[in-house]
Amino acid sequence: MLSFHSKKGDKKVLSPDEFHFIRELTFAIRNKGFDPKEFVKKGDSYLFNFAEKNTSGIDEKRRNFLKAMVIGVGVVTVAGIIPGLRVLVPPNVSAVSSFPKSVLLNSSGSPLKASSISVNSPIIMLFNYPLSGEPNFLLNLGDSSGKPVEVPSSTVTVPQTGDKYTFPGGVGPNKSIVAYSAICQHLGCKPPFIHFYPPKYLTPAQLTAPEPDTLTAEALASAKSAKAPAIIHCDCHGSTYDPYHGAQPLTGPTVRPLPTVLLEWDSSTDYLYALGSLGVGIYPEGANGVPSKNPTVDLSSNFGSSVGDKTEVKEAENPFSS
Ligand code: FES
Repeated sequence: MLSFHSKKGDKKVLSPDEFHFIRELTFAIRNKGFDPKEFVKKGDSYLFNFAEKNTSGIDEKRRNFLKAMVIGVGVVTVAGIIPGLRVLVPPNVSAVSSFPKSVLLNSSGSPLKASSISVNSPIIMLFNYPLSGEPNFLLNLGDSSGKPVEVPSSTVTVPQTGDKYTFPGGVGPNKSIVAYSAICQHLGCKPPFIHFYPPKYLTPAQLTAPEPDTLTAEALASAKSAKAPAIIHCDCHGSTYDPYHGAQPLTGPTVRPLPTVLLEWDSSTDYLYALGSLGVGIYPEGANGVPSKNPTVDLSSNFGSSVGDKTEVKEAENPFSS
């Protein structure tokens, strides 16, 4: 489950069912005639009736959750952002306690050894977590000479809200391994449209290279000023994220960092485990990972079911020659 706090510091918990419910409700709000004026006038009862009619149903648990959510976010805030993706979305997910603990497996089905992950690999390594339709990058970060870099804990700011949370830093033998959602938090583009650019490819020469061909001078400059030897960059509209600092946005249009996947490294076995997610995690997704022109359509996409206690790391398309 996800726990988060509102600006008042209240603690709240999101179970997978609540996550599913939020997505269902958000889709309904955007597509099934939700009337913001009625909501302002009638308050919670309007929202409850609407949810009852337009989702798979609300039992007492969901009703209490919705109530707590509205109180936590603030009715005025909710009214101000309806209809929109951010409705009922926690402003700052800060910790996770009961998502599945999933061991990362290699393509042979054996636990992946942390020390086997190449530093600055141009090959995108992805695993789904916590749901089967949610891909994440697995990165072993290094400096420009290819030496692993210890990734320290840092404070991540959500530009959209100004909220902050603590990114715990890297894990593994060199504390250099991190994992982030591979769904761009602007409009939901997924690999191969969002890339990890190793230091070798974060150069002016890449601006005119044929593949991938959308690195911008602005992204390069932002990486330089953040002292980030490598970046995650989205081809779709140019969002850039700093993998050395919790996937903090470096350039827009994204207004949210990529959510972090919390990892645990067992030093006795060298195995890696995904434990949960950290950050603001909601986004539309379209066919083949490219958002459609009508983002409301994307919200009908299915994020799948829990991956359970294991998830396979796959080597995705390699946009670079080596
Ligand atoms: S979806 Fe990534 S920048 Fe727009």
